[in-house]
Amino acid sequence: MNIMSAIDHRPTLAPCKATACRFVASTAVLVAVLTTPAAADDAMHRLAKVVGTTQANCKQCHPSEVAHWEKTTHFRSLNRLQYAGNSKKYADAMGIASSTLMTTSLCADCHGTRSLVDGAPQVVSGVSCESCHGAARDWLKSHGEYTEGQTFTTLSALRAARSDEVAEHRVQRLESTRKAGMIRPEMLHELARNCLQCHVVGNEQLIAAGHKVASNFELLSWLNGEVRHNFFEDAHTNAAAPSLWQSTTGGTPEQRDRLKFVVGGMAQLEVALQKRAEAASPVYVPQIGAYFAAANGRVTQVNALAGVSQTQSMVARMGPLLGTMFVPMPTDRDTYGAASIEIRELIDAYLAEHDGSDQAALDALTKALPPHYSLQFKEQFLEK
Ligand code: HEC
Ligand code: HEC
Ligand code: HEC
Ligand code: HEC
Repeated sequence: MNIMSAIDHRPTLAPCKATACRFVASTAVLVAVLTTPAAADDAMHRLAKVVGTTQANCKQCHPSEVAHWEKTTHFRSLNRLQYAGNSKKYADAMGIASSTLMTTSLCADCHGTRSLVDGAPQVVSGVSCESCHGAARDWLKSHGEYTEGQTFTTLSALRAARSDEVAEHRVQRLESTRKAGMIRPEMLHELARNCLQCHVVGNEQLIAAGHKVASNFELLSWLNGEVRHNFFEDAHTNAAAPSLWQSTTGGTPEQRDRLKFVVGGMAQLEVALQKRAEAASPVYVPQIGAYFAAANGRVTQVNALAGVSQTQSMVARMGPLLGTMFVPMPTDRDTYGAASIEIRELIDAYLAEHDGSDQAALDALTKALPPHYSLQFKEQFLEK
């Protein structure tokens, strides 16, 4: 097995501090890192943290979420990794053999979930719970544990125990699961950035082979359609916003929709700039440039309707970049890498200061966006 290709091909995943991202934004450093044995060890270490939805038995405590997930395109995304049609075309262009598509290929991290099986990388499912909520090995046990060493007997007993959890324990539990890599619904920036690490493709060779750079992904509508699985408080009702988040923060679905719309657009800017910083090919640069321009248009629209200091700063910062976006320059890495980090910091500042309650003017936009469903989901689950 070629251990080097076991590396995660999605560049910056999960919670990533500005310093760590600055590090990733530098390809010179990145290449050096990827070719050291230590980096290969890191990649194996990372895969070892993925448990797998079946193996983790998420279903035991989240039966409705799992049943819903099984209907989605994400669950079925492995179908694309059959060595046929466009997949074969892309794989051949990348020099990927059919035998490695499901183990070490760069396709496997976006079209599926890999874990270590008997010590070797192997795809264990399509895009899964852990693709979005973070590899679970280190947080699985503690994320639903309300007292130290509490044992799990029945789901209803476990849920009843929630009311006995002391506030201090809750704070510690949320902090420790965050450190262990869990991405919770309240971590909207991390969630959005994580979707986009798959939904915006940065590999220029793959794009040259004909793979799309990006679809018309928009966080609010793409999250509120087939992906939505807010069953925590009521296993039979798919709530309009995460039910646990609603009950712990008092937030409303309208507020959450505004935040999704704003943070979604901002995160598109952040990720577009990150990919643009790493880009050099004349085929890729205009495509990612167009993607950037569209994201900038969305943030500009938010700023016009319900501007806040962070959207103002973004609009002022992005305007001059548009002029150079479509022309590769030797300074691109520094220019766009730095801009991406600035946007990242502005998103965190935005979320620290705003909860959506002060931006009702955005409802004209958010309420007009239809929830997005794939064709297969529509045909099988909506039209009958
Ligand atoms: C032993 C039961 C159990 C298992 C197994 C389990 N969970 Fe949970 N999960 C819970 C409980 C209880 C909560 C509510 C936690 C709380 O009150 O903060 C929860 C909450 C969550 C939340 C929402 C957290 C929030 O802050 O709103 C996510 C996301 C989640 N679980 C994902 C998963 C995933 C993914 C798996 C499988 C890898 C899994 N869980 C397996 C019991 C479990
Ligand atoms: C960075 C993440 C990423 C990587 C890496 C990636 N894909 Fe994709 N791929 C996607 C996404 C997201 C879509 C869905 C795009 C859409 O339609 O919205 C997609 C769509 C596809 C499609 C259907 C559309 C089409 O072009 O026919 C095929 C086939 C495909 N990918 C094959 C591959 C193969 C084979 C590889 C590896 C050589 C690969 N992908 C690598 C994210 C990725
Ligand atoms: C691990 C990579 C990955 C992550 C993370 C991810 N996706 Fe996807 N998603 C894909 C791929 C790949 C496809 C295309 C699958 C196919 O067509 O076979 C897809 C398809 C979809 C579709 C179906 C679109 C259609 O019209 O077919 C929706 C909706 C979607 N994703 C929403 C989201 C949202 C919202 C998030 C974040 C909360 C997210 N995705 C996170 C990889 C990912
Ligand atoms: C495409 C990314 C994605 C996948 C796949 C995914 N989740 Fe989520 N999950 C999210 C997002 C984003 C939210 C918050 C949704 C919102 O804001 O409406 C969420 C919310 C939740 C919640 C909170 C629900 C509530 O009512 O409070 C739980 C529990 C959960 N997910 C568990 C799971 C489990 C278990 C799986 C696998 C079967 C899974 N998720 C798969 C992205 C994902």
